[in-house]
Amino acid sequence: MTSKLILQSKDFIKNRLEGDASGHDWYHIERVWKLSQTLADAENADREITELGALLHDVADWKFYGGDDSEGPRQAREWLESLSAPADTISAVVQIVEGVSYKGAGVETPMETIEGRVVQDADRLDAIGAIGIARAFAYGGAKNRLIYDPNESPQLHANFEEYKKNKGHSINHFHEKLLLLKDRMQTETGLRMAKERHRFMELYLEHFYKEWPA
Ligand code: ADP
Ligand code: NI
Repeated sequence: MTSKLILQSKDFIKNRLEGDASGHDWYHIERVWKLSQTLADAENADREITELGALLHDVADWKFYGGDDSEGPRQAREWLESLSAPADTISAVVQIVEGVSYKGAGVETPMETIEGRVVQDADRLDAIGAIGIARAFAYGGAKNRLIYDPNESPQLHANFEEYKKNKGHSINHFHEKLLLLKDRMQTETGLRMAKERHRFMELYLEHFYKEWPA
């Protein structure tokens, strides 16, 4: 049964993100929420913590708060406190919001709990495959980036600061993030799904480079 906390959080986040065109629209959250439920059941993770983490994971993305990655966890806490959620639920969910983001090619961001691993895998699955390709170009367009520039090669950021400064074209993003996600999956079901989406991205890139005049 879906708890009241989940239903209220769903309405809250839906109202907030509806209409965003940078890849963080409500449907991204809905897809991650649904994928998280599948992964949670396969992994025996707690459904309420997982679902709340999935719903709130992009409540305040650092990219829209001048690089400040403390705003998401802060707002998630504030929201759950306003609903008088139990303290252990709040801390488990805030920990997920804190840890979920990709921070650069050379930066490991393992999650401590199974619920965290499930939400992170679900978020990453939505960044790869056919939907992930669409999101990368939507994000690039929203940020005025080129789809591709053959003179600019990918950068493998050593830390979060370098990743934040990156303003490269969208094809670089495949090499700097999207193609690296498969090997960072933390659940068995997530990994299985990631492999299929990964293959599709490789095929897509093969065609992309083939079509680009030499
Ligand atoms: P997520 O919601 O999966 O954590 P992000 O917040 O990092 O992802 O970004 C939102 C979407 O925009 C993702 O699909 C991501 O791959 C894409 N994106 C992020 N940065 C870039 C970039 N520099 N170029 C192209 N796409 C990007
Ligand atoms: Ni997300």
